[in-house]
Amino acid sequence: MRKLIVGNWKMNGSLAVNAELLAGIRQGLHKVQCDLGVCVPFPYLAQCQILLEGTSVVLGAQDVSSHAVGAYTGQVSTRMLLDFGCRFAIVGHSERREFCGETDEVVADKVQRALAGGLTPIVCVGETLENKEDGRTQEIVGRQIDAVLRVLEDAEIAGLVVAYEPVWAIGTGKTPTPEMAQEVHAMIRTQLVGRIGDAGKGVRILYGGSMKPSNAAGFLDMTDIDGGLIGGAALKAADFLAIASVASARN
Ligand code: PGA
Repeated sequence: MRKLIVGNWKMNGSLAVNAELLAGIRQGLHKVQCDLGVCVPFPYLAQCQILLEGTSVVLGAQDVSSHAVGAYTGQVSTRMLLDFGCRFAIVGHSERREFCGETDEVVADKVQRALAGGLTPIVCVGETLENKEDGRTQEIVGRQIDAVLRVLEDAEIAGLVVAYEPVWAIGTGKTPTPEMAQEVHAMIRTQLVGRIGDAGKGVRILYGGSMKPSNAAGFLDMTDIDGGLIGGAALKAADFLAIASVASARN
């Protein structure tokens, strides 16, 4: 399966910083053979759409509303994201689950709305440190995936991207071993295949959490790790391109 590397800029950037970062990424694109995307803050979608025009880099947002249109102050709809050339939206990132109170049900609603409107949701799942220490990783991740699969038609499930991001590995420099991550990816794969059969083998499952150029190969060598969702290392063009190059060598 073709690997997918997606940058999650989180709440970082400015007009000047984004322009420099994207110029740097553009310069290295001729060497990239994997799929590449960046999920940028809402206000910069218009800027980034223009700066990425004519490149193969796919634009995405970091969240999307579960509603189609109307009196939802502060929310951004799938339709609006499509207006700015977005193809992806991250949904259910742990920082939204933690700081914005997003439950499994809210995440499932958002995924359903995004798919219905023609966006590819990158559905984030992952256990906290406490969950991990209690030996509940598979149970928690399994439940998070199940909440999404339950509300979708089989054909919609085939259009998902999943990101396994252990919460304790995000922005901390700590990571599971590639083998530990693979175990969780394999479980997610089993859930997907259990529900939609062979089509589940084509759903990309990304790893996220302190992925960087020096550890990317270990993760991307695993059978069920089809790419990465990159936070900190996506803010430096050289690091982001270096991860893309590791992924390109494993397509
Ligand atoms: P990180 O973030 O690479 O900085 O750990 C990943 C993410 O939160 O998507």
